[in-house]
Amino acid sequence: MLAARAVRADPHDPLAALEVGDAPAPEPGAPGGPPPGWVRVRLRAASLNHHDLWSLRGVGLPAERLPMVLGCDGAGVDEQGREVLVHAVVSDPAWAGEETEDPRRSLLSERHPGTLAEQVWVPARNLVPKPAELTFEEAACLPTAWLTAYRMLFTRAGVHPGDTVLVQGAGGGVATAAVVLGAAAGLRVWVTSRDEAKRERALALGASAAFAAGERLPERVDAVLESVGHATWAHSLRALRPGGTVVVCGATSGDAPPAELTRVFFAQLRVVGSTMGSRVELDRLVRLCAATGVRPVIDSVLPLAQAAEGLRRLQRGDVFGKVVLTV
Ligand SMILES: NC(=O)c1ccc[n+]([C@@H]2O[C@H](COP(=O)([O-])OP(=O)(O)OC[C@H]3O[C@@H](n4cnc5c(N)ncnc54)[C@H](OP(=O)(O)O)[C@@H]3O)[C@@H](O)[C@H]2O)c1
Repeated sequence: MLAARAVRADPHDPLAALEVGDAPAPEPGAPGGPPPGWVRVRLRAASLNHHDLWSLRGVGLPAERLPMVLGCDGAGVDEQGREVLVHAVVSDPAWAGEETEDPRRSLLSERHPGTLAEQVWVPARNLVPKPAELTFEEAACLPTAWLTAYRMLFTRAGVHPGDTVLVQGAGGGVATAAVVLGAAAGLRVWVTSRDEAKRERALALGASAAFAAGERLPERVDAVLESVGHATWAHSLRALRPGGTVVVCGATSGDAPPAELTRVFFAQLRVVGSTMGSRVELDRLVRLCAATGVRPVIDSVLPLAQAAEGLRRLQRGDVFGKVVLTV
């Protein structure tokens, strides 16, 4: 089958660790094949995430698991002919709690082959029905970046309609999702971006105001959604009202900024981590999109064979929304 795989780890040049070409299709019962109870999805579309670049750099993907099919996000057709999305969080079969809190969970492409391929195997419980209102390309954007933004906003941030939320790094997959979902839910969404064109596009998506990276805000906000890390952390803490919440899901620019503990305790800030989302949250996100007309922001659509071009653009930060690959 055609697949995009990490075949080595290259911390400095992740694209050098990528191979797009023929790969063995997983076979049940074969060594390393899908475990019992897993089902096959023939993918129609997949979307790229920063996670794929981290994997190519070797972050979270040790050498003994290589080669590994990349990809967390996908939508396709199962063996019964049903149109489905795949929930990318694979928890232990014995785990009874919420999937994201299982200490042994993994994401597709960390321990099990991912979605940048013609087919993927997942636990049967990880399938979510795709509503007819969404195209395969749109559905393939939801399980990672959009689910992460949904959980950050509606589960972790503790905000309510009318509150103000600042989203750092307006152009990213998580950030564009947060703008669209936040605006749809009645939040006042402010964004920052290094790029004026991206600020303009964020306003067109529903942001109420857009600021240059690091710019002083006209007033303090109730919550900040952080995925940039080192480059924006100090600004995020300064932007919060006393008692406000910063929700962190990533650290694209590095994860060792000063913690600014004095500001955290004096302003009684809440620093809250967030990772992916549960299957229940994904189901709700899908229904929200179907019912409201909210749709993922798609930067570009490429064939799977051009995965390298899509990943190169993600690496350059040269995207607005999601890069989708069709299979
Ligand atoms: N915890 C989770 O479950 C989870 C899920 C999804 C993503 N993540 C993480 O969240 C991060 C974002 O993911 P994504 O898929 O949205 O990535 P993305 O689409 O590549 O977006 C990254 C955005 O970050 C901003 N940025 C990058 N470097 C920057 C810098 N040096 N200074 C200021 N801004 C910078 C850029 O915004 P501007 O160009 O507009 O400034 C860029 O658009 C990644 O680190 C990813 O691993 C975590």
